[in-house]
Amino acid sequence: MMEILVPSTESQTAADNLPSDLGFGKIFADEMFTMTYREGSGWQDAAIVPYGPLQLEPSAMVFHYGQEIFEGHKAYRWADGHIAMFRPEENARRLNRSAERMKMPTIPVDLQVDVAHRLVGRLKDWVPTQPGASLYLRPTMIATEKGLGVRPAQEYLYFVICSPVGPYYPTGFNPVKVRVEDHYIRACVGGTGGAKTGGNYAAGLLAQAEARDAGYAGILWLDAQEHRYVEEIGAMNFMVVLDGKIVTSPLTGSILPGITRDSVGHIAEDLGYEFEERRLAIDEIIKGIQSGKLSEAFGVGTAAVVTPIGAIGYKGEDYVTTGDKPGPVAETIYKTLTDIQWGRKEDPYNWIQIVV
Ligand SMILES: Cc1ncc(COP(=O)(O)O)c(C=O)c1O
Repeated sequence: MMEILVPSTESQTAADNLPSDLGFGKIFADEMFTMTYREGSGWQDAAIVPYGPLQLEPSAMVFHYGQEIFEGHKAYRWADGHIAMFRPEENARRLNRSAERMKMPTIPVDLQVDVAHRLVGRLKDWVPTQPGASLYLRPTMIATEKGLGVRPAQEYLYFVICSPVGPYYPTGFNPVKVRVEDHYIRACVGGTGGAKTGGNYAAGLLAQAEARDAGYAGILWLDAQEHRYVEEIGAMNFMVVLDGKIVTSPLTGSILPGITRDSVGHIAEDLGYEFEERRLAIDEIIKGIQSGKLSEAFGVGTAAVVTPIGAIGYKGEDYVTTGDKPGPVAETIYKTLTDIQWGRKEDPYNWIQIVV
């Protein structure tokens, strides 16, 4: 395993000094991990260093052609004092798949997981103590080589920053209203939708702002070719309960393969639900809501785990699913996953890794 340089002094914090309203990604722990890559000599200079600004050339290739990928996962403080991570190796594998798609270098999965353990171990006092709060890890890779030629860079920086984040539902498990986007698209088959790269998110901002202005919390994206099949929501995969089955879109390449999505696929059967991956046309969803066959819709992702969708706006009309109450399937999945993540329930899947 590569040697990781660590500061000789301890991280200077106290979880008790963190503000009570942490929000999401507003405060950053005082240490971060960095490692550089050079074509020919590979990854090097792995170190935990003080959190602070990066020095980059304005000609660094990331600023011009967007060679950038990232990940997002969390460390949880359990009631018994342990700090745990949830499936960090899946984030490492996905980072490598994103790297391949964006013609960037991969990083051994074991090294990425070791870095997460070492960093969270040092920053353990930054893992918030309030119920439902956690330490969010943001591994990121950028092209740092200077030059304006359009080609894959030969130099990269990988860094991991950590942010104590508040509970997603400080006032309860509240459903949101989303709008089906039938003009803009997020990603197409053959494009980069399946990679976690900044450009996908930048491309969605205008549509997201328009939906917010119209009173919706987010967007339900449709496929790029026919504007007919539902894909995913902002930063969540989309699921419905249709005829009693949990149904979600297949991974066609334009959807991000969510780790929460995959986890729901595993627990669904044990919870007694059928889980089906198939294309879902928006017409089928609207008809399902009208006939009562579609009883619930929700988003799944690391940030909120499960977000119930109380109503879906489409072509100027709002179609109400569960209104301002979450449905029972969303609640059961939320409880099961969060109980595993917080060590309140046995983990039969081997998903939990104890850090300290
Ligand atoms: C576009 C998109 N879809 C889905 C997800 C959900 O993925 P995960 O469950 O791994 O957080 C995310 C968040 O990472 C995302 O950014």
